[in-house]
Formats: sequence, C-alpha cells, structure tokens
Amino acid sequence: MTRTPAPPPVRVLMATGQSRPEPWVRELAECLPQLEVLAWTPDDAVQADYLVCWGPPAGLFEAQHQLKAIFNLGAGVESLLAMPNLPAVPLIRLEDAGMAVQMAEYVCQAVIRFARQLDLYEADTRAGAWTLHKPISRALYPVGVMGLGVLGKRVAQAVAGFDYPVAGWARTPHQIDGVRCYAGADQFDDFLRATRVLVNVLPLTAGTENIMNADTLGKLQAQGHVINVARGAHLVDADLIALLDSGHLAGATLDVFRTEPLPPGHPFWQHPRITLTPHTSARTLRSTSLQQIADNILRMEAGQPVPGIVDRQRGY
Ligand code: NAP
Ligand code: GLV
Repeated sequence: MTRTPAPPPVRVLMATGQSRPEPWVRELAECLPQLEVLAWTPDDAVQADYLVCWGPPAGLFEAQHQLKAIFNLGAGVESLLAMPNLPAVPLIRLEDAGMAVQMAEYVCQAVIRFARQLDLYEADTRAGAWTLHKPISRALYPVGVMGLGVLGKRVAQAVAGFDYPVAGWARTPHQIDGVRCYAGADQFDDFLRATRVLVNVLPLTAGTENIMNADTLGKLQAQGHVINVARGAHLVDADLIALLDSGHLAGATLDVFRTEPLPPGHPFWQHPRITLTPHTSARTLRSTSLQQIADNILRMEAGQPVPGIVDRQRGY
C-alpha cells in the first residue's frame, strides 16, 4: 500500500529589521507550534507562505513565489507600499497591539505639559523660585486630533477624558463621544481654526504628506502647539521653525522625523521650544504583536476573514 506523502509544513519567514531576530522568531514559533517559523537570511531560497516584516530588504520579495500574505510588524505601511515588487497578496498591518494606550499616554502628557505650563514651573523651581502662576482654563486649550483610526480615536478620547475641548478630523465622518468630528478636505479649515493644540495621528499617504505646513499651521489658534506622533514627512520642518520663531506657535512635541535618527546639526535638536523623542511614542510590543499576527495566520489558514488588511488604493 502506497502512503500519501505528508503535505509540506506551512512556513513563516521573518525579516524583522532587528539586529537580534532570534527572540522574535522563537516567540512566533511558540505561538504557532504546528507551523515552521524561520528567520530570513540574504541568501535564502526558502519559499514561505507568510512573511512577517518591518523595513524589509529590497530583494526579499523577488525570491518568493507562493506567498499567501505579508504581515507588517507595525501600524504604518508607507515603506512597504513604496517597495518595488511588492507581491499582490493581502498586506496586513498591526492594529493597536498595545500601541493605542502608549500613544494616548504620550499625547496626554504633551498636552498637559503645555497647557499646565509644566516647563515654566520646572524652570522656576530649578532657579529656586516657588511661584504660582494663574490656573489655566481648559477652554483656552482646544485640542484637534488629525486621524481618528485605531490610534487617533483612543488619543482623542483620552484627551477628552481630561476635559479639554477635543475636535477630530478624518477622511470620512465619525461619531465619537466627547469629540467634535470633522471630515474631509471641505471641513479641514474649520477643524484647524477650532484647534490650538494640533495632534497628528494620520498615516503617511500621497494625500497627507506635508499636511502640516505654513498654510495649515498658520490657521491654528494663536500660541498653538504641534504634536507629531505619526510620520516626519507629514511636517514641513522649515515651516514649523518659522512659525515658532514668529511666535504664532508656542511649541512643538515631535516623536517622528523625515530622517531617523534625526541627523546631527538638524535645527530641531537645539530649538528651545521643541521637545524631541526618538520615535518611541507607541512601540511595537513583541508578545502582543506576535500573538496578533499568529492569530491572523491561523484565521487565514482556517479560511476566515482577517482584520487589518491594508487598502492599497487608499494607502492605509
Ligand atoms: P488607521 O487606523 O489606519 O487610521 C488612520 C486615520 O487617518 C483614519 O481615521 C483615516 O480616516 C485618517 N485619514 C487617512 N487619510 C486621511 C486624509 N487624507 N484626510 C483625513 N484623514 C485621513 O491608522 P492607525 O493605526 O491609527 O495609525 C496611524 C499612524 O500612526 C500610522 O500610519 C503610523 O504612521 C503612525 N504610528 C506612529 C507610531 C509611533 O511610534 N510614532 C506608532 C504607530 C503608528 P478614515 O477613518 O475616514 O478612514
Ligand atoms: C510605528 O511607527 C508603526 O507604524 O508601527
């Protein structure tokens, strides 16, 4: 009697962009014991069913001929979408995976630090001065959140939880308790004029690149503050500096930059009214992210629908 050969194992290849991929590969393998999980290496001819990647090398896709899906180890997909030879299979991004709470926390601290004048108090106390400034009125600090997706919605709700007036702007209409929502290009100016503290949580697409420029930032209420936690290419750097130096903007909190790491000598480094962090507002958490990817691979293998599929036409 002839035996039917066992089907080849379903294979997952990881190109994580990490200097030490081993713990990522090991942990995904633990989530998917019935599958074969391997780290990608440059001379790899291994054919994979699924790719899990972040900032993958250019040649990665050309050698792959049986992919069922590509998983992005992050929320933003602009770099993947810009890659040549990106196979026409579902591209699935991380949704939340522990990033929304981090982003909300980061934005709330930046809003509160600005509105509660904590930089001023810090300077006072370092100079040995015990000085009380006037209590603030929250009504004077309306916050506008651009992007009301998985991360932006949580950010807007968290800021509204501190009783600041909050507006939100997205491509399509939204309804969020405690948030006045604006939609589309027609309502963008009204949204900007209603905003003093602008928070950017948009994806980077052809329609959002350079969206924070002299014209749009000039429409914010006087003495505004800009918080960019999305992508550096949303912001025209020189326009931000000019508006800070003219006094129209009071400050900026920037987590993302056109070139990362921010190049030495860039004017942002030393600007007295810019606070910088090194792209850390919402980190990719290994266990939560890999569990989400593993669950989605198992859904695909079972023929079930998966959340987080990127719409390539929209670019997010
Ligand atoms: P998402 O769920 O896809 O949400 C995107 C939001 O942006 C949606 O509300 C969408 O509107 C809106 N939008 C897209 N194009 C627009 C346009 N042209 N005009 C107005 N609104 C537009 O994305 P997410 O998961 O919240 O992530 C957002 C971004 O955060 C990512 O793409 C990434 O760049 C960034 N990020 C940064 C970090 C960090 O550490 N700094 C970490 C994670 C993510 P609709 O709702 O109408 O579709
Ligand atoms: C990080 O910036 C991400 O897009 O996940």
